[in-house]
Amino acid sequence: MDERWKQIDRDEPIPSHILERMAECRKRRMILPDEEYIKRPSQIEGIRRAGVINTGVLDEVAGKIHAGMSTQDIDNIVAEYTKAHGAICAPLNYEGYPKSVCTSVNEEVCHGIPSRLKKLHDGDIINVDCTTILDGYYADASRMFMIGNVSPARKKLVEETRKCLEIGIAAAQPWATIGDIGYAISKYARSLGYSVVRELGGHGVGLEFHEDPFVSHIGKKGTGMVLVPGMVITIEPMINAGKAGVVIDPYNDWTIYTADGKDSAQWEHTILITETGNEILTY
Ligand code: MF3
Ligand code: CO
Ligand code: CO
Repeated sequence: MDERWKQIDRDEPIPSHILERMAECRKRRMILPDEEYIKRPSQIEGIRRAGVINTGVLDEVAGKIHAGMSTQDIDNIVAEYTKAHGAICAPLNYEGYPKSVCTSVNEEVCHGIPSRLKKLHDGDIINVDCTTILDGYYADASRMFMIGNVSPARKKLVEETRKCLEIGIAAAQPWATIGDIGYAISKYARSLGYSVVRELGGHGVGLEFHEDPFVSHIGKKGTGMVLVPGMVITIEPMINAGKAGVVIDPYNDWTIYTADGKDSAQWEHTILITETGNEILTY
């Protein structure tokens, strides 16, 4: 990553007006990203192309998901589509993760591991989280799917969590801060009586799976790293119907569950901070 970045750094410098504004922020003691996290046009093009495949994968899942299938069947769909489009599933073998996608059902918050034994039932809600590598560039997104007849409470959780993502994206303006995103999301979620998972969050993405900064979904306005045009981050709120606490599966060391056993939902996009707002790269 370093060598590639140095090459691009010479060919595509950060515009001087952006460097000047960063310097002003630094004077006001704000936290700024390292320059390697400010993506250059050719890198943004690469991430954008990875995003197109990533969206195609999730569209493919959307067309095929149904009650009775197993979460392993979803893994197969994701792996086949990704390969057929010349891309790679980032999760497979990532820090020992054993599958190509995360499939998190009901009280599973995230990192549910696909299994032949785990079937989807009528009334389930499931998050499918795909990260796609194309030509070395990463795009990361997830959606919720409702299986058959879902209870009104579950449907509301799914739809309001999507709204939380939209609110977070709206807050992710150039020269705002990471804290503004978490503030907006948590304020809305809590107004509905939901809670926000704290231990996991969004992240920088693009040249690696998980880059700086950590994007908390709770926060204080005006705190944390400044959002500089050219940054690419994910926003991926995990919203719980009950309490915020989570536990990790002691057997597989991956899957996160709500501590109280109540439902959880999550939606995720990869977004580019631009000079005028932001752009979703995983539509
Ligand atoms: N896609 C998840 C995220 O949004 C990370 C999954 S890590 C894995 O950051 F290893 F479980 F795939
Ligand atoms: Co993801
Ligand atoms: Co992510």
